[in-house]
Amino acid sequence: MIHAACCHLKTIKSDPRISKPLQNWMFCVLHVKKMIAVLVLFIMKPAGSVSADWSVTFENPNPCAVKGSSVEFRCSYNYPDREIARKIAWYKGQFIDGDWKRIALSDIPSYQNRSEYLGDLQHNCSLEIQDLQDDDAGYYYFRFDTDKYGRRSKESVYLTVTELKARVNPKRVRAGDTVTLECGASCPLSTTVWFKDGHPVSKPNFTAQAEDAGNYFCAVEGQESVQSDPVTLDVQYSPLNVSVEVSHAGLLTVGSSVNLTCSSAANPAADSYTWYRSTGSSSVLQVGSGQVLCLPSVDLSHSGLYICQSRNRLGENNSTQVLLTVTETDIYRLILLVGIGVKVVFLLLLPLFIIQAWRRWRNSTADTESHDYENV
Ligand SMILES: *[C@@H]1O[C@H](CO)[C@@H](O)[C@H](O)[C@H]1NC(C)=O
Ligand SMILES: *[C@@H]1O[C@H](CO)[C@@H](O)[C@H](O)[C@H]1NC(C)=O
Ligand SMILES: *[C@@H]1O[C@H](CO)[C@@H](O)[C@H](O)[C@H]1NC(C)=O
Ligand SMILES: *[C@@H]1O[C@H](CO)[C@@H](O)[C@H](O)[C@H]1NC(C)=O
Ligand SMILES: *[C@@H]1O[C@H](CO)[C@@H](O)[C@H](O)[C@H]1NC(C)=O
Repeated sequence: MIHAACCHLKTIKSDPRISKPLQNWMFCVLHVKKMIAVLVLFIMKPAGSVSADWSVTFENPNPCAVKGSSVEFRCSYNYPDREIARKIAWYKGQFIDGDWKRIALSDIPSYQNRSEYLGDLQHNCSLEIQDLQDDDAGYYYFRFDTDKYGRRSKESVYLTVTELKARVNPKRVRAGDTVTLECGASCPLSTTVWFKDGHPVSKPNFTAQAEDAGNYFCAVEGQESVQSDPVTLDVQYSPLNVSVEVSHAGLLTVGSSVNLTCSSAANPAADSYTWYRSTGSSSVLQVGSGQVLCLPSVDLSHSGLYICQSRNRLGENNSTQVLLTVTETDIYRLILLVGIGVKVVFLLLLPLFIIQAWRRWRNSTADTESHDYENV
């Protein structure tokens, strides 16, 4: 083939002493020798150094990034030391009029504010594109020019733009069941992280507790401002934190009215409440039902420890005990108070009486002495 090709090029200045066919033949021999020399040189040169002299290398030729986030094409380029890079440019492959063309990003208005060349005129050709949009997906190329040559990347970066899709599995659980969070995308992403109602979630699978109910979303680590749509986890549980509120603070007197109100955290909400009272002995009485226990007119027998039992279809739980003490009427207490008052007054006055009595006794002895003197 080489012979055939070169033997068609017949441009040796004719030497009158050599016949025409011989001239052609000599030209071919010379040419083939030259080509063999080049071939040998090429083969003997280490393969790496050929491409290392002039090359563009993309660290990740197939990046995947989330819509709205930013992406960095890490890139390096190489050329022989004797050259000096003068001009660089990134291009996007665009299909125009049935043909693939490379359009410089600087000529595409939508990239103007969003792309930033992070590289330099040495060997770094990294590019960042921010606020990614769906149509940013595609092929990207890099080109640099030295004083003598222009070099464009044979390979390209192919960018995929995806959207995050958060899933919680299952969406409705009972406390104690295992939940798995999945952050999906149409291509493999770097590390993703989870948030629940704005707070970081440490593990994407866990045993659900009542407080795990809420709205979850995922994001790519380092780009937390770009979030998936939220998904809701519903955790169902039997009543927790059952508590009783007493409408009347302090001592209760016979005949007064008091309401005990039961509240609890439950999902689904508690649908039945039962009230129990235990007295000193071990007996426990059921004394009512409904969220509010109304005691419109209490008497001494209402004293005791009260418990509210809250129930939904998953189970029941009890409040702690609440002590209710009923005392006698106000009048009885008044008598009691007056009694105490009298005693206090008496105790205060007693020393006065004693002092008074002592003074009187001393005066009477003085009188007797003077009387005796007069007699003398
Ligand atoms: C780029 O930003 C400037 C100022 O922030 C704005 O005036 C211009 O319209 C923007 N261009 C594009 C293509 O978004
Ligand atoms: C129960 O009470 C505790 C302590 O006050 C609280 O941390 C927890 O969130 C409550 N549980 C529910 C389900 O409200
Ligand atoms: C009852 O509630 C307490 C907290 O209020 C909780 O620790 C306990 O596990 C609950 N018991 C049942 C049987 O649900
Ligand atoms: C108790 O509840 C009833 C009805 O809900 C109400 O009429 C009454 O005033 C309440 N009593 C007290 C002491 O809160
Ligand atoms: C709640 O109290 C009632 C009455 O004392 C008792 O029968 C029941 O077992 C208790 N339930 C729990 C979960 O402690």
